[in-house]
Amino acid sequence: MPEYTYDLLVIGAGPGGYVAAIRAAQLGLKVACAEPRETLGGTCLNVGCIPSKALLHGSELFEEASHGTLAKFGVKTGKVELDLATLQSEKASAVKELTGGIEFLFKKNKVEWLKGAATFKDAHSVDIAGKSVTAKNIVIATGSSVTPLPGVEVDNDKGIIVDSTGALTLAKVPQHLVVIGGGVIGLELGSVWRRLGAKVTVVEFLDALLPGMDGEVRKEAAKIFRKQGMELKLGAKVTGATVKGKKATLTLEPSAGGASETLEADCVLVAIGRRPNTEGLGLANIGLELNPRGQIETDHSFATQVPGVWAIGDVIPGPMLAHKAEDEGIAVAENIAGLIGIVNHDVIPGVVYTMPEVAGVGLTEEAARERGEIKIGKFPMMANSRAKTNREGEGFVKVIADAASDRVLGVWCIASVAGTMIAEAALGMEFGATSEDIAYTCHAHPTHSEAIKEAAMAVSGKPIHI
Ligand code: FAD
Ligand code: NAI
Repeated sequence: MPEYTYDLLVIGAGPGGYVAAIRAAQLGLKVACAEPRETLGGTCLNVGCIPSKALLHGSELFEEASHGTLAKFGVKTGKVELDLATLQSEKASAVKELTGGIEFLFKKNKVEWLKGAATFKDAHSVDIAGKSVTAKNIVIATGSSVTPLPGVEVDNDKGIIVDSTGALTLAKVPQHLVVIGGGVIGLELGSVWRRLGAKVTVVEFLDALLPGMDGEVRKEAAKIFRKQGMELKLGAKVTGATVKGKKATLTLEPSAGGASETLEADCVLVAIGRRPNTEGLGLANIGLELNPRGQIETDHSFATQVPGVWAIGDVIPGPMLAHKAEDEGIAVAENIAGLIGIVNHDVIPGVVYTMPEVAGVGLTEEAARERGEIKIGKFPMMANSRAKTNREGEGFVKVIADAASDRVLGVWCIASVAGTMIAEAALGMEFGATSEDIAYTCHAHPTHSEAIKEAAMAVSGKPIHI
């Protein structure tokens, strides 16, 4: 009789957990994954990355057809109408196909799905839906959920004050959507509903949008979103909300204090961040303590302080991103299987899927300057032949390099396809590229990516097209 039922039990089937489970099974371990949701894929596939991108894509097509560049390129359209129910059902189909795909991959790799929430009894045994399961190793991949805002109660069923999950399923386009939080969710979902016809006001506590991104990028992004018609109230906080009938009234005041004002909306999206899911896991039963931010700390191999218990994804420190969770999933599985799994947390790209997209990897200019002498090269998308031809000239690329070694420390872009462009910067940085390495790498013409090459050339003062 084996000592444990499984070699590995993964708790949570988001991009961290399902990837860890599959990789461990590929490496020959007997694996189970506990997940209480009806479908696999976690936040990302069910109520995050995937449904939001379906709505972003659909709303972009709608805006393009309604008043985009189609006419400029000789494409005549009749009256353009929105069929929101069809858009929502297309989104649901994508989610269903992708979550079903993970179920297929579990079966293919012989990962057993144990339906239910897991609670630790001790470091090698958990309760799942009333059944006891033992495992030699356990990975906590329980992800995160929406941070509540005191005084602004979310009720997704009513659809007046909603969180990101509610904002993905609105049955009609709001007249006035107020977004609390000018971060990634606020700008992506704010863009969706603005494109579909809502007036959108974003209330952001800080003086700039998108905390964590490069300062110049944050400023330029605000300019672009304002030009698109979003109202941005920066340096302001919401202090309370009341709902009467189908309207919400919000009280706002300057973040630094001062006179308050009110704002009426028929929909309010609370998007002020997410917090790790640790409640109900029974961590006290295994003596696992959280850090002051409520996260589980691990070492570089993703081992927690409790032998045999590991953690990855949104529940541990670092950016709350699906690809970070996935890479940690692969690494933890490899470490558990006796290989060496590593994630370079200095090179995790981040992308905001608005139009244009905003993307970055590595250090911001501010952080790089604090570290030492730097050189910067910039190139405007307006001078990139492909972007200019496509009438997508907004934005720029910025390459930040160490002044002495020329090693690339960070790359930032605002461009229609910035999310795709940033991949080469991440790859270059992973290989320790200098700006010269990128500048002397042949890039296909005409592509938006040539702007990365030109920005790298600009680091040494030699771009060709500006
Ligand atoms: P999760 O995906 O949150 O999965 C954790 C799973 O654990 C859940 O399914 C949960 O049910 C389960 N669970 C919780 N407790 C237990 C328990 N006790 N027992 C068993 N199971 C449990 N990131 C990107 O990189 N790109 C994007 O475009 C993007 N878009 C987003 C859009 C939105 C609207 C949101 C909300 C998030 C978005 N994210 C995006 C963030 C991304 O979804 C998360 O970073 C990612 O899902 C984290 O993966 P995870 O595996 O750590 O956790
Ligand atoms: P966020 O951390 O990106 O932004 C939250 C914003 O709310 C911040 O700008 C913060 O200053 C502001 N804020 C906080 N309290 C406030 C208050 N009381 N009033 C006004 N503003 C306030 O968090 P968000 O947008 O909720 O997203 C959560 C996570 O999901 C992010 O960490 C992100 O990584 C992930 N995500 C990633 C996406 C992507 O990769 N494209 C898309 C969507 C989410």
